[in-house]
Formats: sequence, structure tokens, C-alpha cells
Amino acid sequence: MTERAEAEQGARELVLVLDFGGQYSQLIARRIRECGVFAELLPYDVDVDEVRARAPAGLVLSGGPASVYEEGAPAFPEELLELDVPVLGICYGMQAMVRELGGRVEAAEQGEFGRTPLSLANGGGRLLAELPAEQSCWMSHRDSVFEPPPGFSPLASTPGSPVAAVESAERDLYGIQFHPEVVHTPHGTAILTRFVRDIVGCAETWAPGSVIDDQVDRIREQVGSAGVICGLSGGVDSAAAAALVYKAIGTQLTCVLVDHGLLRKAEATKVVEAFREQLGVPLICVDARDRFLARLTGVTDPEAKRKIIGEEFIRVFEEEAERLPDVKFLVQGTLYSDVIESGGAAGAATIKSHHNVGGLPEDLDFELVEPLRLLFKDEVRTVATELGLPESIVWRQPFPGPGLAIRIVGGEVTEERLGILREADAVLQEEVRAAGLYRELWQSFCVLPVVRSVGVQGDGRTYAYPIVIRAVTSEDAMTADWARLPYDLLERVSSRIINEIEGVNRVALDVSSKPPATIEWE
Ligand code: XMP
Repeated sequence: MTERAEAEQGARELVLVLDFGGQYSQLIARRIRECGVFAELLPYDVDVDEVRARAPAGLVLSGGPASVYEEGAPAFPEELLELDVPVLGICYGMQAMVRELGGRVEAAEQGEFGRTPLSLANGGGRLLAELPAEQSCWMSHRDSVFEPPPGFSPLASTPGSPVAAVESAERDLYGIQFHPEVVHTPHGTAILTRFVRDIVGCAETWAPGSVIDDQVDRIREQVGSAGVICGLSGGVDSAAAAALVYKAIGTQLTCVLVDHGLLRKAEATKVVEAFREQLGVPLICVDARDRFLARLTGVTDPEAKRKIIGEEFIRVFEEEAERLPDVKFLVQGTLYSDVIESGGAAGAATIKSHHNVGGLPEDLDFELVEPLRLLFKDEVRTVATELGLPESIVWRQPFPGPGLAIRIVGGEVTEERLGILREADAVLQEEVRAAGLYRELWQSFCVLPVVRSVGVQGDGRTYAYPIVIRAVTSEDAMTADWARLPYDLLERVSSRIINEIEGVNRVALDVSSKPPATIEWE
């Protein structure tokens, strides 16, 4: 185990989730943490010594897309049994374990997808004890277990899975075909709690807030008396990271907010108020609006816009850093999902690069401070609240680094267009919040296509821009569905935008899901 991973884990009890590539693998770790037990995710083929070094109290094997009997399918890492800790296989994880230990796994006549009735057998054994004999569960599989391995008892069945759960309590090995981690399995949390708390025997020692004390000590140790800099975007990740570092080292930290003029209405002011005025964090707000606008003049290609904004951002940030004496460290709001996605779960330092315009390149001459790298997004929100950040920052919807620039589509970014878009966006945000929908939506925003259409206002014809409303629900931005906003909300937004904002005569609604559309228009 790397020194970093060791330091992060500390004395905390740990359940390791080995990821076989299932779409819900991260969710398993999140749910276990919600049971009060710390969980981490590692790839299924991680070196067993790495697993051993972490001394997990229990193991969970996730689902995955393969078929266990296919050539090259990820095998159950048998050495794991030597660790002598309880193991729970879920979906593919169960099938791999069952097959390895001599049970029978085959393609079922029909797969099972979605809500499925589940009947317990043998009283539910140890794993499913005390749960209703008939219940519902969420399935997503084509192969099924037809016979458990010798010494294992079947605990449940569904119409398409003769053996939907198994265990050998004696060997402390358990398997379930369905997904306890998704909300559609009503007793899922009870099953995970049963496993990690009763069977594995972990105490309830994990709460996201515990990261605060751990990190305060760690940060002090890491940075000593050196200066630390942090770029704020207005989003919850950088804000929580900055607030945490400030708690550790106070005014050794300086935050920098680059106002590139592509932020939402009053956004820069809100961040300044929250940081400088409420929390007392030293903050430099750089007014770089003219610089960015000048560089964006004449540029219409989306990737060119992103590149220019990214470069200019770095330039401004570096200029500010050079002015500060003795800055050796840079705070980044890297989250656990970024660490996993960049393959760094085993402890490597990584900078989120996906889409990260407004982020900083690796060759900046700073050492990184990443106090949130163990946390999932929802845990960051808990930490941010405990650190006293205002609701408007804690619950802010994601906002892209290049901001409004990539929402002026098919044309140049001009001051006039930015003004129109910013005002339209403000109306939408206000109404969405008033309707109590802000937190339910992954993102809600306006897009300004650079086309003009005919309208009529008063007695005259207009020739003005349309505004497109884009609102989506999503778990992680990889897929998204268009939000079914109520008609009366849409009506209010539309009439306010058209009446209050000069230069707009039409409002349209984007009803495309991702895929095939993306969330942003550029
Ligand atoms: P798409 O448009 O690809 O967006 O469906 C997925 C998520 O990423 C955000 N996004 C960006 N974030 N810089 C960012 O920091 C970017 O250039 C960028 N482009 C898209 C988008 O808002 C959504 O949450």
C-alpha cells in the first residue's frame, strides 16, 4: 500500500469493494458508507498484497458486464479466501465466486431486468434473516446460478433465478444475485447493514464529517508554514476544499477567484461574500472580464473557446500566485470518483482532467493538497455544510469551467449576448428555486443559439434571439434525462424572459436525453 493510502486509511475499519466493472460499483461503496462503515473501491485484479496490506474487515465483489463462463472473463481472485474475512458477492461477483467454488452458473432462458419478486428459502439464512419471506428486488442479469457450490445453502429465488442468494455461514461467504445498492431494492440497505455491521462486525465509525478532523491534522503536517493557494470556481468541491484547508492553516491560505465574465449573474459577488466576509478567508477576486472577452472576439469554434478560456485562466492564476510570497501548495477539490475514474484508487495523486477547463495543468510548480479525495459528492455536501458554507454554494448545480461561453452557440461570445444569457439564466434559476425543484435537477440552464427569428411585440415586428431552456436529471452526468418541468413553471419562465429581457422574443424547451444529445450544447 502506498504511504498516502496508508495515511488516509488510518486506524479506520475498512470494507473493500472489488470492482468487476458494474455500473453500480461506486454506489455499493457509497451505500456501505451510509451504514456508518468506511468503504473503498479497488479494481478486481488489484494485487492481493495490496488488499492484504489494507487489512479489510470484509470484502464485497461487485457486479460486472461479463459472463463467468466466457473465455477471459474476470475470475474470482481465489487468494482472497486466504484473507479469512467475510466476502459478499453481488450479481457477477456472486456468480464468479459460485463458479470458482464448484457451483453451476449458466445462461438463463430469459434475463431479469428491473423490479423482480423474490422469495426467501431456508429462513433467509444468516444474510437475509428477519427479512420478509416475499419481497421485491432489483435485477440486471442474463446468467443465473442453478446450483450452489458444495456446502452452500440457497437463500432465495426469483422466477428467473433458482438460486438468487447463497451462503456458507461456516466459511463466511455470501452471494446475492440482485442489487442491494439501488433504491429499488427496498430491503437493500438492511442487507448491506446486516453484512457490514453484523456479519463483518464493523462498528459504526464512519461519518463524512470525520474527514474534517483527520484532514486538519494531515494538512498541517503536509504544508508546515508554507503558503497555500486555491482557485475557487463557485462550486461546492473547491469551496469545501478551501474551507477545510482554511480551518487547518488559517491565513496561510489565499483563495483566488478569477472572474472571467462567463459566470452566472452575481456569482462572483456571492463567492466573495461567503468567503471573504462570512468565513474570513483571504480571497483575491481578479476582474479579468475584459481580458477574456478580448481573447474570445471572433472565436466561434467550441473547442477553440474552451482552449482559450483554459489558457487564459492559467495565465491569470499564475500571475496572482507569483505575487504571493512563498506559495508551495495548491489546493484541488479532487473527489473520490475522480480518483477512481483516473485509476488512482490505489493512492496515486491525480488531477481531474475530464472537461476540466478552468482547471490547472500538472506542470505548475506546486505540490497538491487534496483533502476531499476520499469523499463522494454527497459526502462533500455534508462536509461543506459542517464547515459553515452557505446553502447556495453547498447545493449549487454543476457549472462548466468555460461557463456561459459554451452556451452561446454557433456564434461569437459578445458582451451583448452574455448579458442576455446571464439575465435569462437568472430568471430560470429564480423560478426553479421558487418551485422547489433546484436540488432535484442535476442542471438547469439557458442556451442562446446565435440565430434570430421574427416576432411581434406591441405594434412592431421584432427580430431577436431565442432562449432554449435545458434542464436535466442525472446521477453522474454520464447519462441524463430531460426534466419534466411543470407547464406553469415553464410558462412563468417564458413570459418573464420575453418580457424582461430585451433581445429575446422566443423561448424553447430542449427535450433531448443524453445520449444521444449531451447536456451542454457545445
Ligand atoms: P456534456 O455536455 O458532455 O456534459 O453532457 C457533462 C457534464 O460536464 C459539464 N461540462 C463541462 N465542465 N468544463 C467543465 O468544467 C467543460 O468544458 C465542460 N463541458 C461540459 C456539463 O456541464 C455536465 O455537467
